[in-house]
Amino acid sequence: MTETTTTRPWRGCVFIGVSLDGFIARPDGELSWLTDPPAREHAIAAASADTPAAPAPALEWETFFPAIDTLLIGRSTYETVLTFDPWPFDGKAVVVLSSGLVTDDERVTVARSLDEARSILTDRGARRVYVDGGQTIQAFLAAGLIDEVTVSIAPVLIGQGRRLFGDLDRDVLLSLRGVHATPDDGLVRVTYDVIPATVGP
Ligand SMILES: NC(=O)c1ccc[n+]([C@@H]2O[C@H](COP(=O)([O-])OP(=O)(O)OC[C@H]3O[C@@H](n4cnc5c(N)ncnc54)[C@H](OP(=O)(O)O)[C@@H]3O)[C@@H](O)[C@H]2O)c1
Repeated sequence: MTETTTTRPWRGCVFIGVSLDGFIARPDGELSWLTDPPAREHAIAAASADTPAAPAPALEWETFFPAIDTLLIGRSTYETVLTFDPWPFDGKAVVVLSSGLVTDDERVTVARSLDEARSILTDRGARRVYVDGGQTIQAFLAAGLIDEVTVSIAPVLIGQGRRLFGDLDRDVLLSLRGVHATPDDGLVRVTYDVIPATVGP
């Protein structure tokens, strides 16, 4: 529970879209509310040179993804990615977290537990790990294995689905690094650094 970047060589990073009410997918995994939303207008003031103390922008996919060497994804997210054509992770190592998945997919390595995933990432020299999937992000956050979080908040409430965040046995403190909004889709994107937990008394 007290893991910090000083005890492992890689950074755990999250970059994910979420509805305003905290869901990353509908109960059946459906995602069109995020990927193909109905058109509507969003009133977002354009940044201007005379805006005082404008905050730094959040990370963008175009700069985040190329800097990633490894993906660590939950089995459910892996099953979604298998429906994508082409495979979106060429050139990246991919570790799938699953207690039971049996696969001959040579593009991925299966980790049976959080501890095994952590060992694989370290042994294989991962430096910047993209952790994806709700349950998987929750497990990594609870274990102190996430260092930065970028969340793209979609302007929609979907009422039910798979949650991005879950129960914790302690607070996770975050430090705001950047934020911006995009007028075409009304997304508000926020990047936080996770403040490492300190060893308790
Ligand atoms: N909105 C977005 O940007 C976004 C991003 C990514 C994914 N998604 C969507 O979100 C959904 C997936 O999220 P999810 O929360 O349902 O699942 P997930 O985290 O992708 O996968 C859950 C599975 O991962 C394995 N797992 C998780 N923690 C584990 C642990 N500590 N030890 C061993 N195995 C563990 C388990 O697999 P086993 O049951 O095999 O043991 C578990 O059932 C999909 O519909 C996906 O398309 C959305």
